[in-house]
Amino acid sequence: MKLSGNRLLDYADLNALIRYYMMTMSEIDYRAMVISLKKEKNAVILAHNYQLPEVQDVADVIGDSLALSRSAAMSDADTIIFCGVHFMAETASIICPDKLVLIPDPDAGCSLASTINPRELKSWIAEHPDAVVVSYVNTSAEVKALSDYCCTSSNAVRIVNSIPSNREILFLPDMFLGSYVAKMTKRKNIFVWPGECHVHAGINAQDINDMLKKFNSADFLVHPECGCTSTTLYHISTGELQKSAHILSTEGMMKHALSSDAKQFVVATETGILYRMKKENPHKQFIPIKRDAICKYMKLVNLEKIRNSLVNSVFRVKVPPRTAAKARAAIERMLAIS
Ligand code: 13P
Ligand code: SF4
Repeated sequence: MKLSGNRLLDYADLNALIRYYMMTMSEIDYRAMVISLKKEKNAVILAHNYQLPEVQDVADVIGDSLALSRSAAMSDADTIIFCGVHFMAETASIICPDKLVLIPDPDAGCSLASTINPRELKSWIAEHPDAVVVSYVNTSAEVKALSDYCCTSSNAVRIVNSIPSNREILFLPDMFLGSYVAKMTKRKNIFVWPGECHVHAGINAQDINDMLKKFNSADFLVHPECGCTSTTLYHISTGELQKSAHILSTEGMMKHALSSDAKQFVVATETGILYRMKKENPHKQFIPIKRDAICKYMKLVNLEKIRNSLVNSVFRVKVPPRTAAKARAAIERMLAIS
């Protein structure tokens, strides 16, 4: 705790100090409880790259949504504590139907996944009955079950390229990822759902240009969901922006940060990823493109809620078998190509 100037501690400062100390103590208590409970229950804790530092610190695996589901499938734990948002826990449950998958906070949703529901997708398909449906992983299990292919930010271009060029494609739900994929594959017959994530849509080309001027020797890492991705690609292709962008999933960003010789990185995604970046690369500097690029859903999970999940086996995420089978087929078609 910092005090301004050289003034002495007063009553309010002492109270604040006690509150700070108590908070740290309870965090330490929860951490110890979580670590011992997870052994006792043969549970594994999976945390997305955007989770709070206290959550990342107790996790067995940290990664992007698909890597976490793959870890869930490979684990011999009976219980998966999925620290992320709801659609990610659903994907884990689809991939490993025999495991108990728990999410510490059932309200951890995703603004992007909720831009399309099964009814809307059915009527879109009715307008394009011969189209191939490609869904980004940020979708509900029911939407995945209506899709031909799933995709992630790192394999979307490859999946679309594998589809015969004469077939129409319905790409959903992210319009930035969709327009990036259309540009990269040069397809004219791809229809993109107008969905967006409130966090990434808030990062715009102006934010990028300002930061890149300031940190002109830094590597620039950008998530394909960003509102700025298509504009940035356009500016680079016209030579207006003298910088190459590394368009990567959150795990792709982590790998790039480790392997690059650069000392500075401008990072255009949710700021939770910076904790792991700094921890794994203590001698490099990571600059968020926007300090308030924060996903409130990702921050709902904390140590107290993880402890509650372990003690009371809540909140179970279970996809009905028929929906799970169809959704699994879309995920497996993706895995066969990736
Ligand atoms: P990643 O799969 O790249 O981790 O992205 C998931 C997400 O929700 C991005 O906002
Ligand atoms: Fe969904 Fe956006 Fe949060 Fe990712 S950052 S989980 S896309 S709301």
